[in-house]
Amino acid sequence: MRYGYFDNEKREYVITRPDTPAPWVNYLGSPEYGAIISNNAGGYSFEKSGANGRILRYVFNQFDEPGRYIYIRDNDSKDYWSASWQPVGKDLDEYKSECHHGTAYTRMIAKYSGISSEALYYVPLDKSYEVWDLKVTNNSEKNRKLNITGYAEFTNNCNYEQDQVNLQYSQFITSTHFSQNRVMHHVHGNLDALKEDEYIDNKNVSMRFLGMAGQKVSSWCGSKEGFLGRYHDYSNPIGVINGSLDNKGNYNENGCGALTTLLELAPGETKEVIFIVGMKYDDEAAKIIARYDENENLCEKELVELKKFWHGKLEKFQVKTPSEEFNTMINTWNAYNCFMTFIWSRAASFTYCGLRNGYGYRDTVQDIQGIIHLAPEMAVEKIRFMLSAQVDNGGGLPLVKFTHNPGHEDTPDDTSYVQETGHPAYRADDALWLFPTVYKYISETGNMEFLDEVIPFANKDEATVYEHLQRAVKFSAEHLGKHGMPAGLYADWNDCLRLGKDGESSFVAMQYYYAMTILRKFAEYKNDDNYVKQLDKQQEELGKIIQKICYDEDRFIRGFTEEGNVIGKRTDAEANMWLNPQSWAVISKVADEEQGEVIMNSVYDRLNTEYGAILMDPPYHAEAFPGALAVIYNAGTKENSGIFSQSQGWLILAEALLKHGDRAFEYFMENSPAAQNDRAETRVLEPYCYGQFTEGKASPNFGRSHVHWLTGTASTVMVGCVEGILGMRPDFRGLHIEPSIPEKWEKFEITKSFRGSRLHIVVKNPGHVQSGCKKMIVNGKEVEGNYVTEDMLTENTEIELYMS
Ligand code: GLC
Repeated sequence: MRYGYFDNEKREYVITRPDTPAPWVNYLGSPEYGAIISNNAGGYSFEKSGANGRILRYVFNQFDEPGRYIYIRDNDSKDYWSASWQPVGKDLDEYKSECHHGTAYTRMIAKYSGISSEALYYVPLDKSYEVWDLKVTNNSEKNRKLNITGYAEFTNNCNYEQDQVNLQYSQFITSTHFSQNRVMHHVHGNLDALKEDEYIDNKNVSMRFLGMAGQKVSSWCGSKEGFLGRYHDYSNPIGVINGSLDNKGNYNENGCGALTTLLELAPGETKEVIFIVGMKYDDEAAKIIARYDENENLCEKELVELKKFWHGKLEKFQVKTPSEEFNTMINTWNAYNCFMTFIWSRAASFTYCGLRNGYGYRDTVQDIQGIIHLAPEMAVEKIRFMLSAQVDNGGGLPLVKFTHNPGHEDTPDDTSYVQETGHPAYRADDALWLFPTVYKYISETGNMEFLDEVIPFANKDEATVYEHLQRAVKFSAEHLGKHGMPAGLYADWNDCLRLGKDGESSFVAMQYYYAMTILRKFAEYKNDDNYVKQLDKQQEELGKIIQKICYDEDRFIRGFTEEGNVIGKRTDAEANMWLNPQSWAVISKVADEEQGEVIMNSVYDRLNTEYGAILMDPPYHAEAFPGALAVIYNAGTKENSGIFSQSQGWLILAEALLKHGDRAFEYFMENSPAAQNDRAETRVLEPYCYGQFTEGKASPNFGRSHVHWLTGTASTVMVGCVEGILGMRPDFRGLHIEPSIPEKWEKFEITKSFRGSRLHIVVKNPGHVQSGCKKMIVNGKEVEGNYVTEDMLTENTEIELYMS
């Protein structure tokens, strides 16, 4: 069943049935002012932090309420509806709607009883407030008198938990006031005798507002109870039913902003009402509202600017392949998803309420990879930031606080850090993620000087990027387990696998191996010969160990517990086959091609399903060792044999590296949101963004996906597709083009910005092979091999590659 379609030209997903199986959401704004909105206008907003800067309330795990509601009431018939289908929820035979989720804006279109409305929701570029721009048109034959009411439910406290839970406090600090065109909501209003930078108990007044521009306010309300009425709900607020709001604020309990205007519309006439929400003091709120009163079509202009910004980023890399699903994801939705994870980390969604008040080291370093080909200038800023969160011993801070202060942070060696963040120890993998990320950035841009840039460590001292990376390798070298592989420490990539401080993870061992391959390239570039030799030796030894103790006939095991027990043996009753050590053996080149074939076939046979490969099999149940935390989840769920979508990206990459284009693409399609557009009843989650996992075959809800938007899947799949399937493999001096595509693809095209040049790459495959290069022509000249070096680049570089 499908609920909408992709409008690829506009880069929108258009929801044509509003009764979607879950709220399907979009992101607006930036961390300065962030907003999340569902196709039924549910959602919330915040400044800087979803947990500590909350402005609009949203009740988690409740049916998508409240939201940015706009009510429309016909004052003659007294019938009323909403600009989004919910909350009023009119009969869908009479109420027709479309929700257009675009790049940082959402437009709701509704038609009901001869009236059509368009509500455009967005946060203007570089601004810290949100706009709900409503246009209402009278499509009927008679004059219509409509009440338009905007409703914003403010939190009583910027802290999400205080607002939701600590009511004996948070209900007694709010009040609302009306002036001219706005409801001002004061939190701690009684502290207004303090200066702006003075605090009592860390508190001062904060003010939020709901303002109206474009029309005159006819009535207002500042109290949730006053607006809704006892024993009413969002579908039938008394303020809307009555035809006029009560013109009263709140003092204690729950504040809100509600503003009504009366629109009189002749047949065919359109009028506009603009609602604005933000966290500002009164004079600033007044100025913001005035801008929208004074400047005609400001909203449309701001929308154009917003689209230009986002589309400009996406246009840096565009593909035209025979697969619509692939094009849609790579050109718009996976790319946009990558930007959202890059910006929001795991901070705010309908699943994450913002309490994780910082950046997870490994997540963030990986997220960066998804946007390097689109916005290297943004990527490098974050890389610098993450390097500055590396401790001088080489390890990463498991959680990097939003208030991170390089050079002055405590570390997991300090009890204060552990107490504050809840992270008790280093994790074995964190800093190892830096290697592919830094390598991809330098190769994409050719910015070799970056290696010499000096960046502080989190706790003290500073060093060049090159040395930061050397210390990361040193960190692993100094934390080895009994067999000489990196010790498990607190955990590796898999949060639910605690092998023990001195246990050993094969996955981390492979990452460590790969890190040395990358570091060696940097060392060679710097003519650091002794170090190259040292790395070679170290890497060779490690490779031998991994092969000797981790290879088990047709698979790599998952690791060793501190006590020396093997995890992931063929003969184990549960969890005897794991996905990541197989794909990572290929990615890291611990496995040669032949071994790669064997292990990847085992994955295909044992783990693959129609929705992607499960993380391991069989699920843990009765045989879980004490560190097998996955057992706390239902079978087929999350790390316990779920299809953990992030791993699907590595699988795509690994198959592509083995030149198995068909299989790489098969894995892409299985878990691709766009490919499930017709199976919304199974997938449930949005068909335009990734989820953290899909329920595996051990679940009765096989195929259902969860934890939308903020997942490492976005970046791993992006890398799997761009570097893997499309074969964009830059290195220090240029770009290798090594596609690994389904053999049925006869041709595809890429446009890509690369080191100041606009590449137009046409790949032809008349002989229907999955990989290879027979001939390449650059700017009309045939060149050797498939390597486009920097000196071949012109402003517009035309590349033709014949695979067969
Ligand atoms: C979650 C975490 C991530 C971890 C993964 C696997 O996605 O955010 O850090 O690697 O789970 O456990």
